[in-house]
Amino acid sequence: MDHFLYKNGVLHAEGVPVPEIASAVGTPFYAYSSATLTRHFRVVEEALQGHPHLICYAMKANSNQAVIKLLGSLGAGMDVVSGGEYRRAKAAGIPGERIVFSGVGKTEEEMVLALEGGIRQFNVESEPELLTLSKVAANLGKEVPITIRVNPDVDAKTHAKIATGKSENKFGIPIAKARAAYAQAAALPGIKVVGVDVHIGSQLTELEPYKQAFIKVAELTEQLREDGHEITRLDLGGGLGIPYERSNEAPPLPFDYGRVISETVGHLGCEIEVEPGRLIAGNAGILVTSVIYRKEGEGRDFLILDAAMNDLIRPAMYDAHHDIIPVVEPAPGADQAPIDLVGPVCESGDTFAKQRLMPHVGAGELVAFRSAGAYGAVMSSEYNSRPLIPEVLVHEDQFAVVRPRPTFDEMISRDTIPTWLE
Ligand code: LLP
Repeated sequence: MDHFLYKNGVLHAEGVPVPEIASAVGTPFYAYSSATLTRHFRVVEEALQGHPHLICYAMKANSNQAVIKLLGSLGAGMDVVSGGEYRRAKAAGIPGERIVFSGVGKTEEEMVLALEGGIRQFNVESEPELLTLSKVAANLGKEVPITIRVNPDVDAKTHAKIATGKSENKFGIPIAKARAAYAQAAALPGIKVVGVDVHIGSQLTELEPYKQAFIKVAELTEQLREDGHEITRLDLGGGLGIPYERSNEAPPLPFDYGRVISETVGHLGCEIEVEPGRLIAGNAGILVTSVIYRKEGEGRDFLILDAAMNDLIRPAMYDAHHDIIPVVEPAPGADQAPIDLVGPVCESGDTFAKQRLMPHVGAGELVAFRSAGAYGAVMSSEYNSRPLIPEVLVHEDQFAVVRPRPTFDEMISRDTIPTWLE
């Protein structure tokens, strides 16, 4: 459930009519709903009731300061994958003891940053990283809590570009080698083993892969305990899918995901960490855009929008589907016809939807992309010298611009001319 609904024939974000935001900030823009972010966070909390737990929001999904500040105020921790994300989390007031550091390529600089600023744990992904972290922590006179991310070789049954739990993927240490890696970790200075980490992919629409992975993690945890390690935390990653298509079957509910966690690892008495990103932010955001032209092609018509692949890359990159709806509610039973929705960028990949059934929308009218709160703004670029688009946070009947649109002067003045060209 989200808070983007038609009221009096016009799409609203909570209590704010979307055209009101469009008049204030111009199009295209992202709008996020505080009530939806809050609701999704609480649903995950409820799913984990009965276990000591921490929800470490995967801020790669949407790292706007206002979004992470809101989630932090609800008690969220953060899963960060770069020094930049760590800095963003700290800037939003998230305490170090609620930040976990993931990622396959942490640099020494990033390790120092997190060790000095405070960190709950590092999720270590390889032996070389383990050795580097040990050296860096020992040099600083610190002992850093770690989990090792294991690769359980499980098929997450999702898009190949976002599956991470198969042996051919770059992530984690093969689970068969995990005991040896833990033995090595326990003997290293500056390292304190506290748990096991796993993350098998994103936009999972079935629970079975989780079940398989978590059973393997439970078996490993028991073996590690036999080996003398004190395993008190399990980081089970993120990845639970969201409904992108209203007409399709919805992915499993967080409650049922929670039941899988209880059934597979509940008996171990560990603190459970999860790293949901999309589940919290995805359906808490829309992308609003205007139709520049309605163009009649040969055999097909096009809606040319003022948003493009640089603003929302998911359709071009993963063939992802986003529901696209007119901001003015169509009359009940209004005729629908297939049309291609495209952006103005100069490549055919700049296509959001082909032959999508839409009610009639004309030039100058607004449409909204649903489910654009995760992996939308964060993956945008200035390709074609198009400015990054503003982000707006709505709270009941108020809204605030939480990232303004840069001016062209700001964009251009970031470049400098070398002296020999002056
Ligand atoms: N934890 C780790 C270690 C991850 O790598 C990820 C996502 C998450 C948690 C959060 O996964 P989520 O709950 O959001 O599914 N850009 C792609 C998604 C990439 C996901 C990368 N890792 C997309 O637009 O579909």
